[in-house]
Amino acid sequence: MNSESESIINMLTLLNLIHSVFGEGADAVGLDFLSHVFWDKYLEFEESREAYDKVMNILERVIRIPMHQYARYFERYTQLSATRSTSELVPLEQYKQFVEESTHEGQETTLPAKSDEEIEVEVRGRIHQLSLEIYTKTQTETNNRWIYEAEIKRPYFHVKPLDEHQLDNWRKYLDFEQIENDPTRIQFLFERCLVACALYEEFWERYTTWLISKTLYDDAKIAFLRATTRFLPQDQPLVRLSLAIFEEQFGDIDSARKRYKDILQYVPNHLETIWRFAQFERRQNPSDPSVAENILLSQLNADNLDKPTKAFLTVQRANLVCYTQKNISKAREIYIENSKEFSNVKYFWLNYFNFEYIHYDSCIESLNIALDLLHNTADLPSETFQGIHTRHLDFILERGVDVSSYFQSKSFMRQPTKSMDANKKRVSLEENPQPSKQTRINASTIPNSQINPNPHNPIYPSSSFTHYSSTTNPWPTQPGYSQNMMMVQPPYPYQYQYQYQYSTSGYPNP
Ligand SMILES: *[C@@H]1O[C@H](CO)[C@@H](O)[C@H](O)[C@H]1NC(C)=O
Ligand SMILES: *[C@@H]1O[C@H](CO)[C@@H](O)[C@H](O)[C@H]1NC(C)=O
Repeated sequence: MNSESESIINMLTLLNLIHSVFGEGADAVGLDFLSHVFWDKYLEFEESREAYDKVMNILERVIRIPMHQYARYFERYTQLSATRSTSELVPLEQYKQFVEESTHEGQETTLPAKSDEEIEVEVRGRIHQLSLEIYTKTQTETNNRWIYEAEIKRPYFHVKPLDEHQLDNWRKYLDFEQIENDPTRIQFLFERCLVACALYEEFWERYTTWLISKTLYDDAKIAFLRATTRFLPQDQPLVRLSLAIFEEQFGDIDSARKRYKDILQYVPNHLETIWRFAQFERRQNPSDPSVAENILLSQLNADNLDKPTKAFLTVQRANLVCYTQKNISKAREIYIENSKEFSNVKYFWLNYFNFEYIHYDSCIESLNIALDLLHNTADLPSETFQGIHTRHLDFILERGVDVSSYFQSKSFMRQPTKSMDANKKRVSLEENPQPSKQTRINASTIPNSQINPNPHNPIYPSSSFTHYSSTTNPWPTQPGYSQNMMMVQPPYPYQYQYQYQYSTSGYPNP
């Protein structure tokens, strides 16, 4: 090989290299709202070697991208397309169609056939019309994004937190792009967002969930690893918990198990992790439910948990025993044994009664034990106490086989509870006698009632009023059990004092 051909080969290799770099660049940053800096360089390079077909290809691509300087590229495109042959400007199929239409349109059989020049002019007109449509669309898409782009004050990574307004702007921008529903654009925006918001688990969580929903599992795995190994601190467990589920789904059980253990090392009291870990072991050990129970037990025996957390885990343990081990009497024992410790935890008592209602088998004995414990052990605000009783009376009427305990239960409603006098804010029965439930039903169901003209806005401050407008039977015959934490309990009309929330502290709200 002589040196001349060698240098030509070198030139071609270099050219290929440059092209592939520009190609990668276009994929990496080409959709950015401010990507004109990149596209200008790319166009400049092709123009410098007078490769106008390449320039045309690039412009074809760029005029469709909503970006800050979209109008400038469209101008270039229009100028350049005037110098190119029409067949080059649109895909072959489209071109053939335009020629076909131009040849025949407005053509009476008597008129002479159009000349090639006339057809060419008409085709060009049609192509122009088409590009105007592209322009209008790009313009609209640009304007739609402008409001969000204008609010991005810090597109780069920084360890300092972003203000709430910025975070909200990213949320809304992602909402917008997800409604637009172009997967490439959505993923691109997520990647941009996660430069600025790399330290926010919320966005990683959202990104991985979206990737999985699009079955982009490899991308999801990479995103999970980026989030958990590089950006999110150990005390932010949300994405790690999702990763554990992801690994479990794909059969990587050991790794999933290690995730739960790792989180509990860094955030030992993290309630959701404890709960999820136990449920994970329940799924992994279908023939030995005690494995899952032991996880809850070992956490319950540690001293570092506060009372609401313990109450929550105790209820979960009872659920586990009841639904997985199918040992109702053992679950009942758990409630009875713990009634003293959680005497003032509303969540515990509501779940205890739910449990008894669900497993009611026309023997009132166990329910009476629960009622006795409520009277003798529970230390609850009077509204809670009243609420449980109101519900109990309903239950006797709806599901009981006899009414022998009705009046006895009703009489309890007028008895003050332990903590009633202690708290001035609580409404005393003597000062402000609550109407009986019967009156309320009466008032709400009789139309035009003088007492209560609007049944949906009862004059009585009744916590369980909405219950009566419900068309569904509020007493489930089977457990309303679901993966969702909020749904673990059957849908009773109570505002649970215990509200489970995603929180990094790992503690439920008191
Ligand atoms: C239920 O649990 C108790 C222990 O609390 C045990 O003695 C009993 O055998 C269990 N029943 C069944 C059906 O497993
Ligand atoms: C409730 O119904 C009874 C008859 O069933 C009626 O005498 C009474 O006035 C009603 N009470 C109210 C508050 O409407």
